[in-house]
Amino acid sequence: MNRINVYILLIVTSIIFFSCGNNTKQKNDNDNYSSPVISSVSFDGSDYTTDQEKILHGKRLANLFACNDCHMPNYTGANFGDFIPLLDGLWATNISLTMPKLSDEQLEKLLRDGKHPERNLFLMPSKTSQFLSKRDMDALIAFLRTIPEKGNPTPIPPVGFRDSVTAKLPADYWRTDKDGKPSYHTAEDEVMYYRSHSLPNLSKELLQGKLIAQTLCSSCHGASLDGIGEDAGDISNAINYGTSSYKKFLTSGITVDGDTILTPFGSEHIFPLLTDSEIESVIAYTKRLIEENRH
Ligand code: HEC
Ligand code: HEC
Repeated sequence: MNRINVYILLIVTSIIFFSCGNNTKQKNDNDNYSSPVISSVSFDGSDYTTDQEKILHGKRLANLFACNDCHMPNYTGANFGDFIPLLDGLWATNISLTMPKLSDEQLEKLLRDGKHPERNLFLMPSKTSQFLSKRDMDALIAFLRTIPEKGNPTPIPPVGFRDSVTAKLPADYWRTDKDGKPSYHTAEDEVMYYRSHSLPNLSKELLQGKLIAQTLCSSCHGASLDGIGEDAGDISNAINYGTSSYKKFLTSGITVDGDTILTPFGSEHIFPLLTDSEIESVIAYTKRLIEENRH
């Protein structure tokens, strides 16, 4: 299975999950606007000193955040409507052509708040990139500026797109409007949900682990790693792992019981783009989180 299919399945499964999440129904909380919580710590490699190191760091972040999966390897875009009829008309944009039209400030706002200067965005996961530190965000944007223009412009969702998707949503869909009716969420809605359900700090030493958990692990395990709103369930079984069995799990996909866990779309549960010490940070953080949640 290629990587774009992986993401499409992810989206389909999260739509299904949303639609059966009766007891997890959340009200639209966009009214309680809050500022992004910018991480004070960064991914490894944020101590870059040259432009070249900065761009390389940004490139690793772009790969970690899967920009090149949905937007395709050359960032020339893909049509989600081909794979998910419900989302007919939604393209992951050819950002090699559209990003040059956005200023650095506009791009950062898009990646932190899910806000585009001209329109609503759907599906674009600013919910996870919003937490990046200043150093990481600067490097990511510096890398994005090196992407050469290629391919053809991609269409934006047609007028009435949101209403037409909303009209086809199951009655118990995850998000609702002010009248309690199902309402297809925007990227901004998701940002707000992740912001108001973000993880606790726990301790200063654990901040990098928290950053990794709330940017990467949350995309499958939910904003609070509680399984709400995403498809992979919670991570409470981390309690049964020691540090070395947990590390083995995150680097080989083999659980403490010796089973092989695959993600819902058939890829391995491994994180080859994380450094050794980042893996250790996320282990330390998530183990402590689960222990605290038990008390
Ligand atoms: C899960 C799939 C997915 C991932 C991962 C993803 N995007 Fe997107 N992105 C989209 C979709 C879909 C749109 C278009 C949304 C729309 O038109 O409503 C979009 C829109 C955008 C836009 C606005 C483009 C325009 O037309 O002006 C930018 C910029 C962007 N993404 C950058 C990124 C960057 C940078 C990353 C990695 C940090 C990323 N995206 C990761 C799906 C994704
Ligand atoms: C691409 C999706 C995806 C991402 C990203 C992801 N996971 Fe998972 N994870 C899964 C799936 C699927 C399962 C299995 C769920 C099940 O079988 O109940 C799982 C299971 C787990 C479990 C339980 C293992 C067990 O023995 O039952 C832990 C702990 C866990 N993940 C931790 C993490 C951590 C930490 C991260 C971030 C570094 C992470 N996951 C990122 C999809 C993902």
